[in-house]
Amino acid sequence: MENDITIAVICGTAREGRESIKAARWVAEFGRKQAGVDIMFIDPKEVHLPPDGAPEDGRDPNYSNATEKADAFYIVTPEYNHSYPSSLKRLLDSEYDNYNHKAVAIAGVSSGQWGGVRACEALLPVCHRLGLVNIRPELYFPKVQTLFDEQGELKPEFTDGYTAAAQKAFDELVWMAKALKAGRHSS
Ligand SMILES: Cc1cc2nc3c(=O)[nH]c(=O)nc-3n(C[C@H](O)[C@H](O)[C@H](O)COP(=O)(O)O)c2cc1C
Repeated sequence: MENDITIAVICGTAREGRESIKAARWVAEFGRKQAGVDIMFIDPKEVHLPPDGAPEDGRDPNYSNATEKADAFYIVTPEYNHSYPSSLKRLLDSEYDNYNHKAVAIAGVSSGQWGGVRACEALLPVCHRLGLVNIRPELYFPKVQTLFDEQGELKPEFTDGYTAAAQKAFDELVWMAKALKAGRHSS
């Protein structure tokens, strides 16, 4: 439908044993409960690109199609040495126009207490450069190893807090995605 919004949830790391995938999957599942929202899930392990380069140096057609279709992005990134992983940058570098005039929300993940806030901050100028419009609030998953059970489910004691925070973020993201979609279609 014209008013429906497609959001690509991007997991920010391809690391073996990554904890962030649990947070990314939780964000995607939460998004699937939003009315009028379609969710795509992007796993950098499944995107195949040359080692480095601009879009003209090589694209993954599946990622190109997904980013073209997406009205908005939800990037769920761990913090690696006070920034975000190189696999996320490689994904972002592989397209230009597919991001422009689209909304983006960011969630940070860490094993420590800060929830990946420095990775989120480091990502902002990159998103700006790509023409993505960042929404607030950010969502943080500090001490991620304590949040999810062995099946990767968010533990019950954390559900209320994350549900409230994620709902605020999705409300903003969908609002911005609709506004920008209308703008793209009117020009
Ligand atoms: C290369 C590397 C660098 C990291 N640097 C940081 C860091 O700067 N700050 C932090 O809070 N956690 C850091 N961590 C720990 C991650 O927060 C932790 O691995 C967490 O589980 C999220 O990342 P994951 O999805 O790879 O598991 C680092 C992990 C790796 C693999």
